[in-house]
Amino acid sequence: MSRTLVLNARQLVTLAGPNRGRMGPEMADVGVREGWAMLLDGDRIAVVGPESHLLAEAGDSEIVDAEGGVVTPGFVDAHTHLVFAGNRANEFEMRCAGRSYQEIAAAGGGIMATVRATRTASDAELLEAGARHADQMLRCGTTTIEAKSGYGLTVEHELRLLRTARDLGESGPWRVVGTCLGAHAVPPEFEGDRAGYVTMVTDELLPLAAPLCRYVDVFVEDRYFSHDDARRIAARAKALGLGVRLHADQLTYNGGAGLAAEIGAVTADHLEQTDEAGIAALLAGGVIPVLLPGSVFGLGLSRYPPARAMIEAGLPVVLATDFNPGSSPTPSLPMVMSLACLQMRMTPAEALTACTINAAHSLGLADEIGSLEPGKRAGFVVHDIGDWREIPYWFGANTVRTVWVGGRPA
Ligand code: NIG
Ligand code: FE
Repeated sequence: MSRTLVLNARQLVTLAGPNRGRMGPEMADVGVREGWAMLLDGDRIAVVGPESHLLAEAGDSEIVDAEGGVVTPGFVDAHTHLVFAGNRANEFEMRCAGRSYQEIAAAGGGIMATVRATRTASDAELLEAGARHADQMLRCGTTTIEAKSGYGLTVEHELRLLRTARDLGESGPWRVVGTCLGAHAVPPEFEGDRAGYVTMVTDELLPLAAPLCRYVDVFVEDRYFSHDDARRIAARAKALGLGVRLHADQLTYNGGAGLAAEIGAVTADHLEQTDEAGIAALLAGGVIPVLLPGSVFGLGLSRYPPARAMIEAGLPVVLATDFNPGSSPTPSLPMVMSLACLQMRMTPAEALTACTINAAHSLGLADEIGSLEPGKRAGFVVHDIGDWREIPYWFGANTVRTVWVGGRPA
């Protein structure tokens, strides 16, 4: 196996610690090491320690010069709608002029507009769009992407999206984790028969989707899916050995956090409207909150999820982009970190923890990625800055110089 020594990093931000979500005050400790280096053995990290020690044991390793930059783990984006065709810049313009997201959806736009574009795209077009977007994420430092379906809404088209996500993971440098979001909206074929659509999801789609995904998601929201729909889908998902993630309490408060706890969801995502009772339910149920400030910003709203109360309650908060063509067309976790710091009063350290080890934990991957520690996969980012806090500070900029995946530059 070839050995590589990463030298001359101004700071190595290790996120070292237990292979689980970091809770409460643990989120503030990102493990900043100055004068440290990292020795890779093939696609794994072998040693992380003071540069002088590593130079002594490095032998004839290949040398990689970080040129005084900051090295962090590859970012983990735990909530994206990666695979779709087209974009909704037309709706963006309408929202800028004052129309609301819900109004546009009720008039036939919104999720259904992307469903129409996605269904008519060829397999090659879908793969090309997914690769282009995944590459933008990679260039912003993301090496692992959770990818939801949800713009097909028939058995055939949902499976096509999940296959595209799988193929992206197999063909590109990114690691992709699939989630079946068949219950994203009720398609026109089932208008007036939501229960029938949910039966299609539980009885036809999920058994075929199971080999292609690890998780199942439901958009629990007025005019989308109810608590009972989510209970039915979650029961089937679990019977198939899949975990549950939930879009909860995004646009209206409807007890989504409590529902997530009741059905044993791994994560509850969004949570803009969640209150103290919801936070207590997440804590009691061991549900991980995945916060998506990009979608609040992207919809021009001002109510961000209560991150401080969640951290103070001891929850292992995760941040993700929610990358999608409607509410959050950003591929950038650093941008999301900036929003979290400025609008949700998370500290830079909490934001970085939320995009690395905590996000990895929410995907069941904390033993493989999310920190720079011996035995983990050698996926890391060299940033063109001298202090790690500059990552969220230079908002809208890209501090990434190079991204490494599996011990090689991506
Ligand atoms: O997470 N909330 C539902 N789904 C997406 C938006 C999807 C869309 O508008 O295309 C979200 O915000
Ligand atoms: Fe989403």
